[in-house]
Order: sequence, then C-alpha cells, then structure tokens
Amino acid sequence: MKKIIISAVAKNRVIGRSSGEMPWHSKEEFQHFKSTTFGFPVIMGRITFETLGKPLKGRLNIIITSNENLKYDFNDVKIFNSLENAIAFCETQNFEKIFIIGGGKIYKQAMKFIDEMIISIMNFEAEGDVFFPEIDESNWKIISRDNRGEFEILTYARREDDEK
Ligand SMILES: NC(=O)c1ccc[n+]([C@@H]2O[C@H](COP(=O)([O-])OP(=O)(O)OC[C@H]3O[C@@H](n4cnc5c(N)ncnc54)[C@H](OP(=O)(O)O)[C@@H]3O)[C@@H](O)[C@H]2O)c1
Repeated sequence: MKKIIISAVAKNRVIGRSSGEMPWHSKEEFQHFKSTTFGFPVIMGRITFETLGKPLKGRLNIIITSNENLKYDFNDVKIFNSLENAIAFCETQNFEKIFIIGGGKIYKQAMKFIDEMIISIMNFEAEGDVFFPEIDESNWKIISRDNRGEFEILTYARREDDEK
C-alpha cells in the first residue's frame, strides 16, 4: 500500500491558517486534488475535516482526533485516535494507495513513513500560520514536474539508501 502526501503549498510554504481557513481557492488545483485522490482513502486531521465541513465524495474519509467521544453523522467517515492506528487499519484493507491530505500537524507526523509526495507549488505567497514541513532534499528527489500555470505539481519519491 503506497502512502502518499498530497498538498498545495504557497511559495512561502504556507498551507493554511490555524483558524481553519484556506488562504486561497484555486479551482484548477482542487480539480487536480480531486482527480488524483478520487476512489482512494484520504486521511486528515480533525481541523482539516471541520474546515471541509463534510466528507470528500467518492473517498473513505479518515479523521484523526484525540477526542474519544467525537462522532460525525456521515457515511464514508472513520475516526482514529492516531495516525499510526489509521494506517494500521488501512494496511488490513488491501488498499492500493492512501492519501494523507493534511493539515500541518498531520503532514509533520506523516513525513517519516510516507512513500511519495505530490505537492502543488502555488505561484504566489500567502498569509497564514500553518506551514508545510521542510523537505530534506537528501531524503527526497523530484521524479516529475507538471507546470499548470498558477501552480506546478512536483512529485517526490523517497531516495533509496544508495542514492543518499
Ligand atoms: N494547502 C493544503 O494542501 C492543505 C491541506 C489540508 C489542510 N490545510 C489547512 O491546514 C490547516 C489545518 O492544519 P492544522 O495543522 O491546524 O490541523 P490538522 O492537522 O488538520 O488537525 C489537527 C488535529 O488533528 C488531531 N491530531 C493530530 N495529530 C494527532 C495525533 N497524533 N493523535 C490524535 N489526534 C491528532 C487533533 O485533533 P483534536 O484536537 O480533535 O484532538 C489536532 O487538533 C487549515 O487551515 C487547513 O485549511 C491545507
């Protein structure tokens, strides 16, 4: 099961605001996110889920929270009390791949065990206080670039030991 981070990141690495809002709305970037993740489970932090307001369609929505009493009245939603437990559940389900979709706290914890990152670098800076973690180029290499104008999609793969 391939574990993939997907994110949209401003030039100054901002991805959002701790109040929950996204600092920008790019229809084309959201379309890319939708077509890439559609049909696969998406794992997110509780704040990101509440920002969305409802589950993303056509995908199992997995939400991470420390609140043992949290419940949502939606189908297609599962709740786990850690990222590790969510991943362990996915490993039992024969999923071909899963996407880790944010926000900042979840990306930070996921960096150490994911296989790939699909990052849309927006062509502007944004105001916000939630950032994408530093990407250590000694561990990650860019395997594709796709320029879409308002953003460029960089796909990163983890370097093998002999490439470091
Ligand atoms: N640009 C992008 O691609 C992108 C993608 C996604 C989100 N965002 C933005 O990112 C911002 C939200 O990011 P964020 O870092 O503030 O929040 P977040 O990562 O979405 O959610 C954080 C919450 O997840 C739960 N959590 C995280 N780690 C946990 C663990 N190990 N065990 C148990 N629960 C855990 C906690 O929920 P409880 O408090 O319930 O315990 C925590 O408060 C928003 O502005 C959103 O719009 C941007």
